[in-house]
Amino acid sequence: MALLTILQYPDPRLHNTAAPIVQVDDSVRSLIADMAETMYAAPGVGLAATQVDVHRQLIVIDVSPTHDQLKVFINPEILESRGASGVEEGCLSVPGVYDKVQRAAWIRVRALDAKGAPFELEAEGLLAVCIQHEMDHLKGKVFVEYLSPLKRNRILTRLRKHEKRAG
Ligand code: NI
Repeated sequence: MALLTILQYPDPRLHNTAAPIVQVDDSVRSLIADMAETMYAAPGVGLAATQVDVHRQLIVIDVSPTHDQLKVFINPEILESRGASGVEEGCLSVPGVYDKVQRAAWIRVRALDAKGAPFELEAEGLLAVCIQHEMDHLKGKVFVEYLSPLKRNRILTRLRKHEKRAG
């Protein structure tokens, strides 16, 4: 297993669209293991392959307080959604930024698991929000793009300052 580098907003590669995974083979399972390790180490509750510069439809999520309930979604699809929820979100690609985004409160999602078997899951609360957030990454969308231009500009200015200091 290995820790992967997480792309930082506004890296243009975060806007790539992920392609479906045709075969869930050992290379995919090894990517899942690395992504899970990277997510837990960050620490975070979700990570999309896009964020580690792999543009394939794969996300890992663990919203459990014990960090031992890893959920893997390959080629996820939202079949049904209901309600509205605005939970404060953060993102490993946008460190230090937290804000509310309008999301569906309840979703039914279909995906393949780490063995390549299809499954359906109903989710609400933090898990539902997290799935929608990570699925956005696969479409090349970062959560700060839902915020007002004013807020987004403030975030960009702050991240650039940070970058200068780091560089
Ligand atoms: Ni994110």
